[in-house]
Amino acid sequence: MRGAAKDGHNLKLLSGYRSAAEQDALRNSYEQRYGTSYANTISAPAGFSEHQTGLAADVGNGRCDLEKCFGQTPAGKWVAKNASKYGFTVRYPLGQEESTGYAYEPWHLRYLGSKTSKDLVKSKAKTLEQYYGLKP
Ligand code: DAL
Ligand code: ZN
Repeated sequence: MRGAAKDGHNLKLLSGYRSAAEQDALRNSYEQRYGTSYANTISAPAGFSEHQTGLAADVGNGRCDLEKCFGQTPAGKWVAKNASKYGFTVRYPLGQEESTGYAYEPWHLRYLGSKTSKDLVKSKAKTLEQYYGLKP
């Protein structure tokens, strides 16, 4: 957050740790609103969300919060470019739905530690699944 602020982006944490019960409630609300198959592409079942590990952070600055258009904002571009410096990766990149199993989420960061996050960039893998050789 301090690094982003220095570059003029007032990022806030929108969602960090979520308990299984919170994830379940969120997932149920998406299922009711959009149906199960679409809900499956935007939210993990309880027990399978990175938010439940405490290693995920959804960030935003009030413009296109939790929307795909965040990726096109200056703050979203800053996040994509700089996440790895701080030990994070944009976990669900555009066009990688087959690999990650989830729709594009330019706001969802996963903490990997700075060694792994930098190595991931160097490896040219587009997703964590590719980095670990799990998916094309
Ligand atoms: N939105 C992400 C996939 C989650 O529910 O963990
Ligand atoms: Zn998230």
